Amino acid sequence: MSQHEAEKRAAAERALSLVRSGMVLGIGTGTTTRFFIEGLGRLIREGLTIEAAIPTSVESAGLGRSLGLPIRDDVERPIDLAVDGADEIDPELRLVKGHGGALLREKLVATSAGHFVVIADHTKLVDRVGRTFVPVEVVPFLWRHTARRLAALGAAGTLRGGEETPYRTDNGNLIVDLTFPDGIVDPERTAATLKAIPGVVEHGLFLGLAQAAIVAVEGGVKVMGAEELLGS
Ligand code: A5P
Repeated sequence: MSQHEAEKRAAAERALSLVRSGMVLGIGTGTTTRFFIEGLGRLIREGLTIEAAIPTSVESAGLGRSLGLPIRDDVERPIDLAVDGADEIDPELRLVKGHGGALLREKLVATSAGHFVVIADHTKLVDRVGRTFVPVEVVPFLWRHTARRLAALGAAGTLRGGEETPYRTDNGNLIVDLTFPDGIVDPERTAATLKAIPGVVEHGLFLGLAQAAIVAVEGGVKVMGAEELLGS
């Protein structure tokens, strides 16, 4: 296992220590969360019982089911704890998510959870969000018009997968990836502007949602935010 993979696993293992019997969990998508889902499978084999695991993608649902997790699409009661990866994390725990295409369900799970904890390796830390690119899920109908409105924000937009073979989300939508030349100076304002554009289903800016981030660095894990939840 590479150092990079080992870091992802270390962050996931730390998050597993937050799981308690009887919980309803939200489970994210991506290569870091995969370690968390595999760890949950191991704990369940060892006797842990959880009430439900709500997956943020078809992929995570399949993996979870194969490992014996009680996968559900919906629950009556709140999600106790959601654990997911991130593409960017700024010092105030503002995130970019959705490079893996699962942003809509990821945001639904994050906003429905009592605690939302991010797990990542150190390469995800940024000084300002928008350093890589911000995915925006749009409906296919008149998507070119939606993309033009997105470009008016001063960002370069690319249809994920290209026009010949566009990427489709689990919800049947398209993704336009936005690149901002210098990152995003005012993420809250950009998020509000994106959300107000007709045709936009969801965007990958996750602001004020994560209570904590477990970031694996060389030689250990660093906890950002919610020390009462995780210890330092
Ligand atoms: C999925 O859509 C994303 O939001 C992932 O959570 C994010 O891309 C992190 O993925 P990795 O853990 O694979 O880096």
